[in-house]
Amino acid sequence: MNSLSSIASQLLSDPKGLLAADESTKSANKRFAALNIEQSEEMRRLYRQMLFTTPNVAQYISGVIFYDETIRQTTDDGKPFADYLQEQGIIPGIKVDGGLVDLPNFPGETVTEGLDGLAERLTEYYKMGARFTKWRAAFVIDEAGKLPTSTAIHANLHAMARYASLAQAAGMVPIVEPEVLYDGTHSQKACQDTLSVVLRVLFELLTAYKVDLSGVILKSSMVLAGKDNPQQSDPHAVANATLGVFNERVPKDIAGIVFLSGGQSPDMATANLNAIGSAGKQPWPITFSFSRAVQDPVMAKWDGKSQNVAEAQKIFAQLLANNSFARDGKFTSEKK
Ligand code: 13P
Repeated sequence: MNSLSSIASQLLSDPKGLLAADESTKSANKRFAALNIEQSEEMRRLYRQMLFTTPNVAQYISGVIFYDETIRQTTDDGKPFADYLQEQGIIPGIKVDGGLVDLPNFPGETVTEGLDGLAERLTEYYKMGARFTKWRAAFVIDEAGKLPTSTAIHANLHAMARYASLAQAAGMVPIVEPEVLYDGTHSQKACQDTLSVVLRVLFELLTAYKVDLSGVILKSSMVLAGKDNPQQSDPHAVANATLGVFNERVPKDIAGIVFLSGGQSPDMATANLNAIGSAGKQPWPITFSFSRAVQDPVMAKWDGKSQNVAEAQKIFAQLLANNSFARDGKFTSEKK
């Protein structure tokens, strides 16, 4: 096993998952604003510190994905967050894409920026302790069935494949995250078809760029009907459709698959993950890499107040425990 696949297999080790704590400053501020929490660098530091110092967190998570601001921040006593987590056996990772910008001539579609200067940034992050990285692209499904276009898929996935090759050259595992957005009224079948095309092109391009698949983790959405479609799919149907696409499109030799929660409620994300975990052995380890589904209730309980930290941490540990059970299909609501 080479060092990339060894890092990847530690990240995917049973029964753990990954914590996505890589919300950009803009996204973190938006979530704070919705709860009337002060939006400042110090409040973002205090919030992330609360998450990372939750007792026993290392039982449930193998890695944390940071944002640039967060990997430069420290605990109250001045220890870099990356060092603090490493001491508990949690691997630091970093989001390295530059976010989404509109794709000219393709209304409603975006392309992810961030390749310029990436090799230098990767070297710096490696020195700070990061051993894995993440790059996200987003694909919207429209009502007319015209989006995503082939141009948006190819523009995004070429960039993603170039990122993956640069991350591996810098000694870090790439997490490739082609998110099919949950927003919209589309059917579950439309999501399934879109994810199928996206994953086909993604793995063609990763292969074309000679990326070592054994050192790659796929971060995927689940196959869901759009959020505004009244006909939602039950967890069994979500598991069948999601695993159906993976078995058709995902090479057996990638290191593993993790899920984003994508705007599902915590209960829904856990129930769907549990159905996927219950479906029997798959060719790859599969686990969670949630942000909102493990953080939203925690942030609400915290509410920016130090006296709420212990209660909020209890909720956080419980949500992580639920998803740790769910990855193995062992979650029951009594375990809540
Ligand atoms: P959500 O779980 O909130 O979708 O976030 C995961 C993530 O990393 C999005 O890029």
